[in-house]
Amino acid sequence: MRTHRSSLGLVAAVLTALAPAGLVAQTGPARIKIDPDRRIGGVHPRMFGNFTEHLGRCIYGGIFEEKSPLADADGFRKDVMEAARGLGVTLLRWPGGNFASGYYWKDGIGPRDQRPARRDHAWGALETNRFGTDEFLRYCEKLGVEPYLCINAGLGTVEDARNWVEYANEAGNTYWAQQRRKNGRDKPWGVKVWGLGNEIDGPWQLGHKNAEDYAKFALEAAKAMRREDGTIKLIASGSSNFGPGADWVGWNRTVLERLKSEIDYISLHTYIGNRDNNFEKFLAVSRDLDDRIEVVKGQIQAVRVGNPKARPIAIAFDEWNVWYRSFNGTTEYEIASSGLEEKYNFEDTLAMGMFLNAFFRHADVVKMANLAQLVNVIAPIFTNKEGMYLQTIYFPLAEYAKQKGLLSLDVRVDSPQYKPDEGRPLGYLDVSATYDPKSRQLYLNVLNRSEKSDITARVENVAGAPAGPVSVWEMNNPDLKATHTFGKDTVVRPATRSVTVKAGGNGFDYTFPRHSLTILKW
Ligand code: AHR
Repeated sequence: MRTHRSSLGLVAAVLTALAPAGLVAQTGPARIKIDPDRRIGGVHPRMFGNFTEHLGRCIYGGIFEEKSPLADADGFRKDVMEAARGLGVTLLRWPGGNFASGYYWKDGIGPRDQRPARRDHAWGALETNRFGTDEFLRYCEKLGVEPYLCINAGLGTVEDARNWVEYANEAGNTYWAQQRRKNGRDKPWGVKVWGLGNEIDGPWQLGHKNAEDYAKFALEAAKAMRREDGTIKLIASGSSNFGPGADWVGWNRTVLERLKSEIDYISLHTYIGNRDNNFEKFLAVSRDLDDRIEVVKGQIQAVRVGNPKARPIAIAFDEWNVWYRSFNGTTEYEIASSGLEEKYNFEDTLAMGMFLNAFFRHADVVKMANLAQLVNVIAPIFTNKEGMYLQTIYFPLAEYAKQKGLLSLDVRVDSPQYKPDEGRPLGYLDVSATYDPKSRQLYLNVLNRSEKSDITARVENVAGAPAGPVSVWEMNNPDLKATHTFGKDTVVRPATRSVTVKAGGNGFDYTFPRHSLTILKW
């Protein structure tokens, strides 16, 4: 982001003189320029996906707790369902994650008491298989979300994957459709979204493969699955391994080249953390996100260029979140011992805005995203046997979800810059905007990642200044590390108000407080 030079420099000078003690004054002018005609693409409803894995207490004790007074007749926790509805979840990925790479779906169908218990070799737990395909698909139906099944591309076979599609989607009188009927479901479940495996590029994955071997497997699986149901959407396992020496660009290149005629999405995974307790560096990760998305977008273009009939391919960020506190150990079994029960704080809420802003800015190519995960395991909802509470990250997720289906706009942003690390400078304001052409309503999403400075920006809209009041949704907290727990989940909550801005020309000035996430709507 370049620094905009104009008479706003004067405003900056005045602010410098007036800065209260403890605040570092704004060091340059800020401007956000909106043009409703500069459209990036629609914010796809699948952008507000989520993820439930057989891991820790996500399924058992999270969404599913048989015999609990808090559960319905199917064993689904009603309080969790209500919270998931409030979150605006649109799509749910299952059964993993790493778990998917050792999961045999046939173990999880039929009478519950007759299902085999097995050791899950992804995370080391004992899997009872009491929650399986029909339970998951019923859960999605009840919740009103689209299901997304991830096949076992680790230890599984092409035939397993094909049969799973038949079990879920076949309307005719075939063997697996009859099994589904026997298990109580006559009508096909009609699962549209299928993942061709999980993180197969990672050496930690059961059945880890090199890119060529993965692509060969995935191509045959895709072919067989599509012959069973030609309407399904397929997601290739893209890069998740950004560790030293990992050739993530090469992995994506091979996967895209080999699978370009079969896939609809390539998946990316990213987890971040404030490991060195450096707030402004933590919230600078959007630069990497933007870069990675741009690189993969270019790689998609590279395999499609010159072929007018090339299949459209989008990016599915089907695992993303803050995850670092419950990440101890060198093996997956050690990591799993914490149950991945991450306790989120206030600064993590700002990271949610940062992620979603980056996805919105690339709405032309990022068409799906799944927060990992829904409940207890690195999740916005946290339960015990008696109840639940909402973690701090719940609130921005729920608010951004209201923008689904709107048009993401290409906003011009100039703001004071900083150097979070050795890398290139970055603007303190991280911005996205969406627009509804029918109602002409505009949402402006602004993260101020400065720890010390409030930043006043001139907000301009070429279509004109707001005619009425602007509604403000804001998350801020004096304690960056403030958290929630049972009975105390109102500490980090959004504030809302309506302000009458002093419009001048086609815009107005607005001060975005230090370390805050603001959504302005007018
Ligand atoms: O979401 C937790 C784990 O993170 C998933 O199982 C895996 O895909 C990723 O490494």
